[in-house]
Amino acid sequence: TSCDETAAAITDDGSVVHSSVVASQTDIHARYAGVVPELASRAHVERITPVIREALADARTPWNKIDAVAVGHRPGLIGSLLVGVSAAKALAWSLGVPLIGVDHVHAHLHAASLTQPGDPSPPPSHTDHFPALGLVISGGHTSLYLVDSPTAITRLGATIDDALGEAYDKAAAILGIPFPGGPNLDRLAASDDADDRAADLPVSRLGPDSLDFSFSGLKTSLLYAARGIPSSPTQRLPHPAPPPLTPERVRDLAASFQRAAVRAVIFKIERALDAADAGDLGHNARRLARLIVGGGVASNSRLRRELADLAARRTIALHIPQPRYCIDNAAMIAGLAFHLHADGVIADLSLQAHPSATC
Ligand code: KG4
Ligand code: ZN
Repeated sequence: TSCDETAAAITDDGSVVHSSVVASQTDIHARYAGVVPELASRAHVERITPVIREALADARTPWNKIDAVAVGHRPGLIGSLLVGVSAAKALAWSLGVPLIGVDHVHAHLHAASLTQPGDPSPPPSHTDHFPALGLVISGGHTSLYLVDSPTAITRLGATIDDALGEAYDKAAAILGIPFPGGPNLDRLAASDDADDRAADLPVSRLGPDSLDFSFSGLKTSLLYAARGIPSSPTQRLPHPAPPPLTPERVRDLAASFQRAAVRAVIFKIERALDAADAGDLGHNARRLARLIVGGGVASNSRLRRELADLAARRTIALHIPQPRYCIDNAAMIAGLAFHLHADGVIADLSLQAHPSATC
C-alpha cells in the first residue's frame, strides 16, 4: 500500500509466486488526474482485508502455512503506508510469525526474479551474476544502483527533479491525454504513423560524470512545443504560434517526448556501464554482468525495445519484470523479504512507516 495499489501475494523461496492480487485505484483518482493521498489511504482501509483474503484463496494457502509476513514500509505516501504496516503487524502478531519491513524501491529490483510455480523457463537465480547495475523507473523514483546481492544495494544516481513516471504523467496532462497518463502516452506514441522527430526535445546529460537524471527541461520543452513559447514584455516580436494541437500533432509530440525520455535513460545506463568498465564504480563493479530493471515505467514499450538493443550491444544480460510485476505489487515485497529474513533482518511491532527511501 505504498501509493494507490492495494496488493497482497503469497510467495515461496523468494521467487515462486503462488498468488498476486493488485487492486488498483485508477477509477478513484482519474477525475483528479493524479493520486489524492487522503482518498488513497481510505480506499486501502476498505480493500486491504478482502485483498489479503483473495491472495490466500488464490494460492489455496491456509493461514497456518504462512511462515512470515512482509510489508512495504517505505518509501511512499505516509497515509497509504500506514494502512499496510498496521495490517502486517496485526497479522504477524496474531499468527505468531516474523514481520519483515521492505523498502519498496529495492523490491522493484527484485521483481524480475519472480516466477510462477512450474515455470518451464524460470529466470536465473537471484544469487547469480552479481554485481549488477540496477535501474528503478517509477512514478516516484528514477535511480541507478550498484546491486551486490538482493539485499546489498547502493544508489549511484537519482533524479534531481521529476521521476520518469511523473514526467510521463505530466507530459500526458500537457497533451490532454487521459489518466493514467504514462501508459496512455506510450500507447499513442507507439502508433504506426507517429513521427518521433516532430519536435526536437532535449535529452539531459547533466555534468560529464553525472549518473543523476533530470526531466524538468524535457517537460518544459514539451509544454512550449505544444502551447508556444511565452513572450517576455521587452520582446519586440512574439514567438511564432505553434502548430494547432490536432490529434495527429498530439500523437507526434507524444512520440517525440517518448524518444527523448527513453534516450535520456539509455544514455545514463551506458555512462554507468562505461564508469564500471573504467573502474570508477569501485573495483568490485568491474565485472557488471547484468542490468536489472524495475518500476512502473519498465513496462514502456519503447524502453523495453531499446533496453534489449542495449543489452545485445553491450553483451550484458537484461532482467526486466513481466509487465504485471513492473507496477507496484506485493509479490516483489514478499520475494525480497525472503532474502532479508535469510540475512536476519526482522522487524518487531515498533516498525514505522517512512515516506522517504533508505538509499
Ligand atoms: O512503480 P509504480 O507502479 O508506482 C510507483 O512506485 O511510483 O509506477 C507508476 C508510474 C506512473 O507514473 C505511470 O504513469 C508509469 O509508472 N507508467 C508508465 C507506463 N506504465 C506505467 N510510464 C510510461 N509508459 C508506460 N507504459
Ligand atoms: Zn513502486
